[in-house]
Amino acid sequence: MSFNEILNTVADDFAAVDHFITHHLNSRVPLIMQVSQYLVDGGGKRLRPLVCLLSARATGYTEGNAHVLAAAIIEMLHTATLIHDDVVDESDLRRGRATVNSAWNNATAVLVGDFLISRAFQLIVSLKSQAISEIMSDSTCIVAEGEVLQLINQRDPDTTEQRYMDVIYSKTAQLFVAATETGAELGNPVYRPAMKKYAVHFGAAFQIIDDIMDYTSSAEEMGKNVGDDLAEGKPTLPLIQAIKTSATAQAQLIKDAIKTGGLEHLNEILTIVRTSGALDYCMQRAQEESQLAIDALAEIPASKYKDALIALAKLALKRTA
Ligand code: IPE
Ligand code: IPE
Ligand code: MG
Ligand code: MG
Repeated sequence: MSFNEILNTVADDFAAVDHFITHHLNSRVPLIMQVSQYLVDGGGKRLRPLVCLLSARATGYTEGNAHVLAAAIIEMLHTATLIHDDVVDESDLRRGRATVNSAWNNATAVLVGDFLISRAFQLIVSLKSQAISEIMSDSTCIVAEGEVLQLINQRDPDTTEQRYMDVIYSKTAQLFVAATETGAELGNPVYRPAMKKYAVHFGAAFQIIDDIMDYTSSAEEMGKNVGDDLAEGKPTLPLIQAIKTSATAQAQLIKDAIKTGGLEHLNEILTIVRTSGALDYCMQRAQEESQLAIDALAEIPASKYKDALIALAKLALKRTA
């Protein structure tokens, strides 16, 4: 199943999500409208809403459009976390264009991000579901915790794989968890644990690939700058593994670069990361996570939506953007 075939299983719902987002980012404040419009135009892969829609359908949701609303809300929350993340990471490129902090400034990014989160919660309330409110609010807290945990790891060369996994399960996987759990809550809550497990591992695979790409891809391909992680002294899995497997001098070079941040030794470090086998190891870890995601779907009844979720977990390993 290609990405387009996956999309086609929920094409109408997916279009409705887009429509909903565009129409609910209204505000009486022109700057908010301007920034929101800019963000919507920027697009993005809209993976979290896709996973939400698929989860609802795969677990038997047939009536109403609560799944569209929920999917749109999750994309708004995701967009807000990216706006804030780009301030924290001092990134200036996102979705192939200048970030909000770069096109405007940090204050605008922080405040419009806050607005987006608040608007998302207004819309959650309108769903009138205690269970979904709990899922969304729990998840946003965990995402925020993940970003702070990562801040603690920053510039710490002794960060372990376990600490890294803790960060990515929180900052990245948890919004996918919100997406699938909400979908299952709407479809059939019996399947919530299975759909949650899918999302945890899917999200981890997705972020490991993202962290590999930061050392292998290009700004043109990714729509965001590469080398950002090293510049910020972020001990992501490629570096953690390269430290483990490299000779003392090389390991020390990476450790020092994590401690200081900056791109001074980028080329040497790229060479070490690429020749140490660290990237193969990361790929293998991503494959394991993707397989765990697929395994979690065993108890979900057969359908084209389930097939799409399986295909998506496989495609996550091959993504280039
Ligand atoms: C970016 O997420 C943040 C990560 C978790 C790596 P996406 O890669 O899903 O971003 P968009 O929404 O498609 O831009
Ligand atoms: C993205 O994390 C933000 C969240 C997952 C909350 P990163 O900082 O690792 O991702 P990019 O590279 O900016 O998209
Ligand atoms: Mg970032
Ligand atoms: Mg970040």
